[in-house]
This record gives sequence, C-alpha cells and structure tokens, in this order.
Amino acid sequence: MLANLRDLLQDAEERNYAVGSFSVANMEMVLGVIKAAEETRSPIILQIAEVRLNHSPLALIGPLMLAAAEEADVPVAVHLDHGTTLDCISQALDIGFTSVMFDGSHLPLEENIRITKQVVELAQDYDAAVEAEIGCVGGSEDGSVDIEMHCTSPEQAVRFAAETGVDALAIAIGNAHGNYKHEPVLRFDILEKVHESVDTPLVLHGGTGISPQDFIKCHQNGIKKINIATATFDSVEKSVREAYKNGKINGYYDLHTAEIAGAYENAKKHMEIFYSVGKAE
Ligand code: 13P
Repeated sequence: MLANLRDLLQDAEERNYAVGSFSVANMEMVLGVIKAAEETRSPIILQIAEVRLNHSPLALIGPLMLAAAEEADVPVAVHLDHGTTLDCISQALDIGFTSVMFDGSHLPLEENIRITKQVVELAQDYDAAVEAEIGCVGGSEDGSVDIEMHCTSPEQAVRFAAETGVDALAIAIGNAHGNYKHEPVLRFDILEKVHESVDTPLVLHGGTGISPQDFIKCHQNGIKKINIATATFDSVEKSVREAYKNGKINGYYDLHTAEIAGAYENAKKHMEIFYSVGKAE
C-alpha cells in the first residue's frame, strides 16, 4: 500500500529501526525490492534521484513506482531523491510521489533554508513529506561530480530543522555516495549531538559500503531513513554476470529473472540489518 514517509519514519522512531530507501532504475529493481519487502514484512521507500531521470524518465518510472507501491501488501513510500529543481519536484508531486527531497546542501545556509521552505509549502498542497540536507554528503548520486564532504554542524542542524519544518533531515557524518575508496569512518559524536538536539528523523545517505555494525549504531541514534543505491545497482549487475557465467541465461527472460534476484538479495540483506523485518504488521 502507498504510504507517507512521515508515518513510516514515525513508526521507525517509536519501534527503534530504520526504513530502507532503495534507489531503483527499472521495473526489475522495483520488483526485486518489493519482493524482499513483502517477504520480510518490511515497510520501505522506493526512490529515484533527479540526476537519474535522464536514464529512467520520471513520466514512465514514476507511475510504475507508484503502481508497485499500491499493489504491495506492505507500506511503501515513493520518494524523489536529491531534487535540485522546483520543476522536477513539482512534477514528482503532480504524479503522486508521497515525499520529495530538496538538496540545497551545496548552497549557503540562508539560501538552503529559503528554498527548502518553498518546497515545504509546495508539498503541503499534496500532503507530501519533505527531506532536505544540511552539511554535505561526499561524492554525488551518479558519481558525475566528486563533491567534498562537510560534516553537519549540530548548531546549524537545529536552526535548519526549526526554520524549515522538514519531515526528514539528511546529515553528513563522514558518509559519501558510491563505493568508498577507504573504509568509512563515521562521526558518531556529531550524530549523537544532532540527535540530542533535533527531533526531526535523520537520514543517512551513501549507505553502500557502511558496515552492519555502523548501520545499527546509526539507527539506534536517530537515523530513521537509510539510502541505498550503488549496492543495488552492483548487486543487479553481479547477479546478471554470474548468471551468464553459469550458463543460466538463455534468452531475455532469464536476464529479467537475474536482475530481480540481484535487487531482491541486496534489499533483503539491508532490511535485516535495519531491523525493519516484521515491522509492516
Ligand atoms: P549509495 O549509492 O552510496 O548507496 O548512496 C545512496 C544515496 O544516498 C542516494 O541518495
């Protein structure tokens, strides 16, 4: 069933777990992630980033994501990840996405607050939730730019949350998008400070490559939404490669099956680490 991000994050807060937010690029990934959610009885978020829409046009993948959420027998929110333009954010809201992210992390604080407030106002007309980012997560969603990571200032996070009224706040604590070049060292001191002083559910981007122990520490300290993208794409690609190697692909539909399996395995593994298993009940 189609769910609102606000409700999912509130339940995660009350019952001490995190909701996996899985980036998808095609129908096979949607099917694999939903299969894992239904099997493990996990609430989830399906998301796509604005920068990926040149590969998977919003007018096509958006309705597919929404239909899959409606058909699912667990709660599924449908989210625009890293929205950078008001045009794209409005389009996602018009299609029926239940939440949108405005990423103004690269902007001066005042400017980030100003535009985020506009997005919050816009989303209110749709009863949609809004995520924004403070501090700067390293890398970029599609690897096209190597954005330098700046850890979130807890003081700025307090001000940002109070002034914008966002439903979810992405923070930077040493996390980065894409595969990490070195083992990530997360700043749990910053996470604890932000968690102590901000009531808004927190979001961890750059989930690929973070250890299970660190994920658990994150969701025990206020991180309620965890974004996974590269790990899904890599798992799908590996599943297809292995299926070819093992002679299991003898036509297009074997390829389709291998893609679904790759997305399914990766999503299921993360749902277990996030403790979302069984929380759909
Ligand atoms: P990864 O690609 O590192 O999993 O990051 C996902 C993400 O944060 C999407 O916004």
